[in-house]
Amino acid sequence: MEHKEDVLILAIESSCDETAASVVKNGREVLSNIISSQIDLHTIYGGVVPEIASRKHIEKINQVIEEALKEANCSLDDITAIAVTYGPGLVGALLVGVSAAKAISFAANKPLIGVHHIEGHISANFIENRQLEPPFACLVVSGGHTHLVAVKDYGEYEILGYTRDDAAGEAFDKVARAIGLGYPGGPKIDKISKEGNPEAIKFPRAKVAGSSYDFSFSGLKSAVLNYLNSCEMKNIAVNKADVAASFQRAVIDVLVEHSLQAIKEYGYEKFAIAGGVASNSSLRAAFKTACELHKIALYQPSPIFCTDNAAMIGVAGYYEYVKGVRSGYDLNAVPNLKLGER
Ligand code: KG4
Ligand code: ZN
Repeated sequence: MEHKEDVLILAIESSCDETAASVVKNGREVLSNIISSQIDLHTIYGGVVPEIASRKHIEKINQVIEEALKEANCSLDDITAIAVTYGPGLVGALLVGVSAAKAISFAANKPLIGVHHIEGHISANFIENRQLEPPFACLVVSGGHTHLVAVKDYGEYEILGYTRDDAAGEAFDKVARAIGLGYPGGPKIDKISKEGNPEAIKFPRAKVAGSSYDFSFSGLKSAVLNYLNSCEMKNIAVNKADVAASFQRAVIDVLVEHSLQAIKEYGYEKFAIAGGVASNSSLRAAFKTACELHKIALYQPSPIFCTDNAAMIGVAGYYEYVKGVRSGYDLNAVPNLKLGER
């Protein structure tokens, strides 16, 4: 039974290859979380094909929204506002969600709220940790982003560090392709690494000159490619599990080291991780060990809330809603939207 004063956000997410809708109550309670993944469709191409992603979103979006309402046991009448990811992401994919949200908002006369995708990832931490409040530091590691963020308040961020080249997830996907694991690379490297030795090959831990918090993964990716080439030239059989585990360890070492440095320097007592790569089992274990050692409270969303979903957009949308943020019907997809911008 919902109370009149309850705020129910219907959230829509379609920035990449997941068509998702969710109903979130009062910012932290997920009443439904429907995700229709296109991964199988893109696997044969070795990565997300934007045109196919947009078409598939169009096919699925109405059904996914209906399911989200049904599972939450509510109708559009019960919904307080519609939240939608409007960037960053693939422009054609984003437009499908944005158009659907605008249409529903207009037809049902409900406020519309455009949400930043990365703000959504960060907000995923509020779902299972109802006592978590800003300020805290958050490492966002996804297919398109690697950001170390100071969450100063709800919707108030300062970027402390970011990747100068490849995102962490992008590096996972590229290395997976190079060792023949296919797409999506992250989960496959995660799995095969369990059988490998992370100390087998010494891959570089990149430092960015002049910044202790920025990241660079393109050198590591090249080092893996060079290693594979030299094995081929010398006719040495490649142990895929060792390569995957050694690469993964190199990524994690850098992520943990830079995060800890920032947490200490800025004096944060709470640290959260977010984004698809945050579902990596070794990364989660490494942060758990490091945070226990340094007595930092660690928050890590369940894997289903790390990879793309609409519940996180509903949470972020709620905090924008209570602040009074509303979008107009001129809301457009912004493929390279910066965090903190509107
Ligand atoms: O957050 P997300 O679902 O979409 C973006 O906003 O980009 O992140 C997708 C990325 C992909 O690069 C994928 O390979 C990576 O997250 N990923 C993982 C794992 N699961 C997904 N990376 C490492 N280990 C995983 N278990
Ligand atoms: Zn994402």
